[in-house]
Amino acid sequence: MQQLFVFAALVVACVAVAPPSIVRPCKLTDYRCIGHNLRANSVCNPYVYGSVPSEYRMTNVRFDAPFFNASYVDKTLVVRNHNKCFVSEFFFNVQRDTAVLSVDCPHLDLESNRTLIQHNSKREDTEYQYHIRADYPLIRLTTNLRHANRLDLCSAFVFGEVTELPNFFVNPLDNATNNFLSRDLSVMNIYERETFFYRAPMLMRYFVNNYICNFRC
Ligand SMILES: *[C@@H]1O[C@H](CO)[C@@H](O)[C@H](O)[C@H]1NC(C)=O
Ligand SMILES: *[C@@H]1O[C@H](CO)[C@@H](O)[C@H](O)[C@H]1NC(C)=O
Ligand SMILES: *[C@@H]1O[C@H](CO)[C@@H](O)[C@H](O)[C@H]1NC(C)=O
Repeated sequence: MQQLFVFAALVVACVAVAPPSIVRPCKLTDYRCIGHNLRANSVCNPYVYGSVPSEYRMTNVRFDAPFFNASYVDKTLVVRNHNKCFVSEFFFNVQRDTAVLSVDCPHLDLESNRTLIQHNSKREDTEYQYHIRADYPLIRLTTNLRHANRLDLCSAFVFGEVTELPNFFVNPLDNATNNFLSRDLSVMNIYERETFFYRAPMLMRYFVNNYICNFRC
């Protein structure tokens, strides 16, 4: 019989004994326990598929990099090693009415034929095409699920930390792109952080919905 933490129940218990503010109801390796604890405070379905493919494809994934005045479209995005992610933190903060869930993804490998759309004021966008494959040593996803029994991964922000810059290989698909692409990697950390503002929710939802509790998004 596993222990379930439910916000509302603890509030009642408060009267007798002040509970600790931070509650860790599960071992981080016990996805069943984490799923049932999320279920107790939300509407997700804890009967999950239990795996994601080691490699899968997505089409036309768009993201923006405001610092670079640019947008990007991954026409075909191959995601590898998403199945290697694992839960690295899970707790409830009772006072703040919040659950925190972190997932670490080692060696996340993204390969794409990418269109870079460079925006310019009072001018047409210019487009560039390149092939890229990047291996990220560690991507760390963290979400704060708020409000007791209305925890909702589908509307929650997910923060994606790029703990180390990726090892990557870029192949420009035409000469214009070859001339345009910067060799200056000093601001690459900004590009990667901006990128993962877009990728993090998608990566987190797919992992949680398949391994822990299905929020259906
Ligand atoms: C983005 O556009 C602004 C305004 O034109 C410019 O000052 C800035 O240098 C551009 N950013 C990059 C990274 O090129
Ligand atoms: C990128 O395009 C090339 C040439 O059309 C194709 O062979 C390759 O499979 C594509 N790669 C991806 C990741 O879609
Ligand atoms: C790039 O330019 C070189 C000559 O400068 C040319 O030989 C080559 O075919 C061009 N490649 C593409 C993809 O246009």
